Amino acid sequence: MKAVVYTQYGGPEMLSLQEVEKPKPKDNEVLIHVRAASINDWDLGLLTGDSIVNRAMSGMSKPKLQILGSDVAGIVEEVGTAVTRFVPGDEVYGDLSSSWGGFAEYVCAKETSIAKKSPRMSFEEAAAIPQAGMLAVQALIDIGQIRPNQKILFNGAGGGVGTLGLQIAKQFGAEVTGVDSADKLPMMKAIGFDHVIDYRTTDFTKTGIAYDLIVDAKTSRSVFQNARAVKKGGRYVTVGGEIPMLLQTLVLGPVVSALQGKKMKIVALKANKDLQYMNELFEAGKLKPILDQTFPLINTREAMELYASGKHKGKVVITNP
Ligand SMILES: NC(=O)c1ccc[n+]([C@@H]2O[C@H](COP(=O)([O-])OP(=O)(O)OC[C@H]3O[C@@H](n4cnc5c(N)ncnc54)[C@H](OP(=O)(O)O)[C@@H]3O)[C@@H](O)[C@H]2O)c1
Repeated sequence: MKAVVYTQYGGPEMLSLQEVEKPKPKDNEVLIHVRAASINDWDLGLLTGDSIVNRAMSGMSKPKLQILGSDVAGIVEEVGTAVTRFVPGDEVYGDLSSSWGGFAEYVCAKETSIAKKSPRMSFEEAAAIPQAGMLAVQALIDIGQIRPNQKILFNGAGGGVGTLGLQIAKQFGAEVTGVDSADKLPMMKAIGFDHVIDYRTTDFTKTGIAYDLIVDAKTSRSVFQNARAVKKGGRYVTVGGEIPMLLQTLVLGPVVSALQGKKMKIVALKANKDLQYMNELFEAGKLKPILDQTFPLINTREAMELYASGKHKGKVVITNP
């Protein structure tokens, strides 16, 4: 089968389409014919080996995980002997960040790592949902404890978490502000953000406006700066960003909570936990993933270049016939 392989850490130029052996499912796995996969920040981090965390996961000097791709949607082709929830022909999607390998024609997945996709969801839409969607649900609902009609801000709002998160927040009647770079703001207004802020010209923590809930996809400020923009009794929830700032949020968050009555929290992703909820929202016409360009598998390098440039709006998706 064809797969996009890399053997050295580096930029998108490290990715090449190669012929590799088709995987065989273990007893508790299914073999998926991948019809679409989306790119996440984690794919880029594993490609570049930019952090000690990613190198500890995949190899200090060379990547052991040589086929990236966690978010996939496709058709079950074969099932392992112990699989009970799926049969060949099922249309499924999920986040395979425990095993990777989605930038390929076929991938094996544990049956616990996937769910049936809503029949009306395209494969491209389904592939756009798992990781960013789970981060958004868990930041807003599980950790953020969103309540009706709150004032909410998403930082880094023009990517996967923000564009899916907006649609979930709107189910709660929220007034939603999105912060990102200037070229994404028209798209963000068009999909329903009530207010937009260009982070390169305006610091949302210095506007004097405070929010009930902030969801941050790109934490780059101190826990004290972020707390300035949270109402008393409100919450700040980060899903990712600069590691020193995340560590600071982890360590000093409880101090801010005690002193200022504002909860400062970090999401630890529970992959695939809420895919059924996403199916329900989609079926009810309340969720529509925002897709940037889609690229055929052979052009995965170009797809990764677009993602790495930061210019993507919503999700970048790779497709397979
Ligand atoms: N917590 C966990 O367990 C876990 C698991 C997986 C992933 N993650 C993290 O979750 C996040 C995923 O977010 P995503 O899928 O929405 O990413 P994304 O699609 O790349 O979107 C991020 C957006 O943030 C913008 N941005 C970059 N720097 C910014 C800044 N300083 N201020 C405001 N906006 C900024 C980017 O635009 P420009 O580039 O144009 O600025 C981009 O539009 C990542 O941080 C990832 O590391 C966490």
